[in-house]
Amino acid sequence: MAIRVCLAGATGWAGSELARSIARTPDLTIVAAVSRKHAGRVLGDVLGEARLDCRVYASATEALAHACDVFVEYTNLETAKSNILAALERHAHVVVGTSGLTADDFQVIDTIARRHQRGVLAAGNFALTAVLLLKFAELAARFIPQWEIIDYAHDDKIDAPSGTVRELAERLAKVRTPERTVSIDRTVGERESRGATVSGSQVHSVRLPGYVISAEVVFGMPDQRLSIRHDSGTSAVPYVDGALLAIRKVSSLIGVHRGLDAVLDLGLSP
Ligand SMILES: NC(=O)c1ccc[n+]([C@@H]2O[C@H](COP(=O)([O-])OP(=O)(O)OC[C@H]3O[C@@H](n4cnc5c(N)ncnc54)[C@H](OP(=O)(O)O)[C@@H]3O)[C@@H](O)[C@H]2O)c1
Repeated sequence: MAIRVCLAGATGWAGSELARSIARTPDLTIVAAVSRKHAGRVLGDVLGEARLDCRVYASATEALAHACDVFVEYTNLETAKSNILAALERHAHVVVGTSGLTADDFQVIDTIARRHQRGVLAAGNFALTAVLLLKFAELAARFIPQWEIIDYAHDDKIDAPSGTVRELAERLAKVRTPERTVSIDRTVGERESRGATVSGSQVHSVRLPGYVISAEVVFGMPDQRLSIRHDSGTSAVPYVDGALLAIRKVSSLIGVHRGLDAVLDLGLSP
């Protein structure tokens, strides 16, 4: 039987690409969708995909009246947490694509997920190349104690750093605390020019026309340097395969798991 999906944010940039892909995927079916502007319509009419015959609802609570196996959260930070908790209360497993939730948010979500024996798989970036960035950087941090992160994005991106960079900094913090030859509070001049400290890493956010989204971590050792960089293109296609995998695998999890590598064996475990 096909896995029944409730897709919040089904008409958005990322969610609509995922919805179209699910329409072509026999083992998955969308039973309800969420979007305020298109509430009351059939999703397939909105997206021009006849195979998507489910209704669009204005809120997750209404959409969750349909029984589903997996709830996918792809809306925005303001509604994500309440949507996730509503889905868990309805005993759905949850895949979280929305970025920006904090470690404290995930702590609360984890408690509720474990109470209901459900899995939550959250990834700030479902692209395979971004997962590899995280894994390669974790590996490098085991050997190289000093690094800084550069977060590049288009000029109208209002949040900083990006979800991918936040996740990268959190991951690296679990490997070790980066060392600094000169601590930030001993900076002579503008301290801000040394960037923000995010989970222990110095992060420098660049917001300029001409960039899409890139994340670069630079590891430095005496007389040698290693840069690991991820560049996103302009379409949402790279996120689809990872999200499909997450939907298929999340029911094997209990509690919150961060990163697609929770269900993707890259053979890179320490
Ligand atoms: N994990 C990943 O790989 C990945 C990849 C891409 C994006 N993202 C993240 O995913 C999130 C969505 O990004 P996007 O670019 O797709 O955004 P978007 O184009 O603005 O789409 C947002 C979707 O959510 C719906 N929505 C927003 N607020 C809502 C509310 N209060 N109630 C019901 N529906 C609501 C919108 O429909 P209405 O406006 O009609 O309500 C729309 O369908 C962001 O956090 C982004 O950073 C993650």
